[in-house]
Order: sequence, then structure tokens, then C-alpha cells
Amino acid sequence: MRGDLERVLVDEARIARRVAEMAQDISRDLLDALGVSERDGDPELDGGLTEGRIVFIPVMTGAMVFTADLVRRMPLKLSLELVAVSSYPGATTESKGARLAAELPQDLTDKHVVLIDDILDTGRTLGLLSELVGERGPASLRIAVLLDKPARRAVDVRADYVGFEIPDEFVVGYGLDYGGYYRNLPEIATLRADVIRGEDGPDGTTPTGRQDAEPKA
Ligand code: IMP
Ligand code: MG
Repeated sequence: MRGDLERVLVDEARIARRVAEMAQDISRDLLDALGVSERDGDPELDGGLTEGRIVFIPVMTGAMVFTADLVRRMPLKLSLELVAVSSYPGATTESKGARLAAELPQDLTDKHVVLIDDILDTGRTLGLLSELVGERGPASLRIAVLLDKPARRAVDVRADYVGFEIPDEFVVGYGLDYGGYYRNLPEIATLRADVIRGEDGPDGTTPTGRQDAEPKA
């Protein structure tokens, strides 16, 4: 698997440090939003102060690894509700739009919601999800992503928490895939050009790694 890599953009240690910082920032902001202060008790010990108020919504499958590391560094009583969005009709390096592949939790009224994804690319996925969450009347909505590729934005979406801003390059690892593979790499890396352009490209990708077919929905 490592033989397919071209260059490591962010190594394991840097990811771990940044994820820990993000967990602290998000926890602090959620406690502020809930009006929980030190005098109300230690939120780490007294879960009652945040119980039923905080919902994290990771976008499967890419956000799986990031979410697992992030939430284990957060002392809050929170619940996790997975959502699935298919943004690619198969394996390709090109996003063609987003559609919801699993229902959002119905009851988000008055909850503090945090949408989590691996990467903010064109913004279609998180644009769609913020709209849908917004319709459910949450108390607040925040977006946390490990990576941001601002050069690629097509929809105006801003993340409240960004791990790393990266250039316009296709990356894999730490949850991000190409053709379903490489999610289990502990670092963020680019793939060798011949891996992306290989004729054996997964799921009918063209030699450029891009798929010409329009999404089915
Ligand atoms: P968006 O809707 O274009 O913002 O795309 C977001 C989704 O596209 C992410 O959740 C990823 O699954 C995928 N994606 C975007 N850029 C990359 C990349 O460089 N590598 C792997 N997946 C990517
Ligand atoms: Mg994804």
C-alpha cells in the first residue's frame, strides 16, 4: 500500500497534535454555547450539564478515522449520529455533487450540532448537510473538517474548525480513500500519478482518474 504513495503531506504526529487541539477548541466552544462555566461544576465529571444537548454527525465513510480520534479527546457527554452522503458515482478524484444516502436524525431541535468530515473540497457535501440540519432547528451548527482545499470551493461553505489547509491535490489516508482504499493509512499523502491514472482504475475511472458519467441522482 505504501508503495503507491508519492509524498506524505501531513504525518501521523502532526495529525495527532492538531486533532487534540481541535478537540479542545470544539469542547470549549460547545461549553460556552451551552452556558456551562466552571462554577457549574466540572463538565468532565458532571455529564448532566451537556446531556441530550450535543450531537456529532460524522459523514461516512471518510470522517470515520478523524471522528474516532477527535471524540476520544472530548470530555463532553455527546451522542454520535452517522450520516452517509455519496458524492462520487464510483471511484474518482472528481466530486460531482452530493446526495444523502442515509436519513439525518429527525430530532435536532435545540441541539448543538457538529458536522464532521474528512475534507472540505467543493463544499457540496457539507453545503447540502448544513442546509438539511438547519431545517431541523438546531440550537447551533458547527462544521469541523480535518482538511480544507479552499482552491476547489464551488459552494460557499466555511468550516469552523480546520485541521490543515492543503493545496489542490488529491490525497488519501486517515479516512480519505481512492477507490475505497488507503483509508487505513495513518498519514495524509498523495498517490503516485500512475496509481491514479492506472488502466486498472477502480470502478471504471478513465485514465485520468476522473469519471465522466453524471451522478445517478
Ligand atoms: P465536496 O462535496 O466536494 O466538498 O467533497 C467532499 C468529499 O469528497 C469528501 O468527504 C471526500 O470523501 C471526497 N474528497 C474530496 N477531496 C478528496 C481527496 O483529495 N481525497 C479523497 N477524497 C476526497
Ligand atoms: Mg467523504
